Amino acid sequence: MKFFIDTANLAEIREAHGLGVLDGVTTNPTLVARENITTRDAFEKHIKTICEIVDGPVSAEAVSSSADDLVAEARTLAAIDQHVVVKIPMTTDGMKAVHRLSEEGIKTNVTLVFSALQALMAAKAGATYVSPFVGRLDDIGHRGMQLVEEILDVFSNYLFETEVIVASIRNPLHVLEAAKMGADIATIPFKVIGQLASHPLTDAGIRSFLEDWRKVEKGMSLK
Ligand code: E4P
Repeated sequence: MKFFIDTANLAEIREAHGLGVLDGVTTNPTLVARENITTRDAFEKHIKTICEIVDGPVSAEAVSSSADDLVAEARTLAAIDQHVVVKIPMTTDGMKAVHRLSEEGIKTNVTLVFSALQALMAAKAGATYVSPFVGRLDDIGHRGMQLVEEILDVFSNYLFETEVIVASIRNPLHVLEAAKMGADIATIPFKVIGQLASHPLTDAGIRSFLEDWRKVEKGMSLK
């Protein structure tokens, strides 16, 4: 299973990369808006910097509406670095763009997927990745992980190369369930990556071992 980090923050990306668990990065306009980026040039440099930190796919989102504009924007984004994957919204124009971009060899991540049929459409159009948003479904009282299960089930019937990125992850349980289902990728916020590694019993165990070791050292110094 691959772990992507869902952030545009360079410090978070560097920290997660240092853990040795990072396979890629996903960004979106909301995440970019949290960084101090005020020009198109600065945005493209930021994406390039992310690509230099992480040797893996880096999703950058296209914000155009028509298929023609999405294709043009995607070409510009893809030219930033060979690792750039262009996020394309799950719309009919988006599908047209994905189809054309796949023929050009430009990788795409179809975003804002909320049904298995949308994922099927994206896969058939030639998407490299599809991103079901589980947290946003949970937020409105639907079971987000049920959607992932359904997509994996549908994809397993065929030979699509499209990989499933479990997105909009809110907590460690989403990651655990994604792993149990065999999802290809989870894109995880920095805070949740930290939560995956921690356990209160580990912390308590370290504390008591250190206390006991201090007693041993005290005894050693008395000899
Ligand atoms: C994924 O690619 C998206 O950037 C992200 O997971 C959206 O998450 P959110 O619902 O927390 O905004």
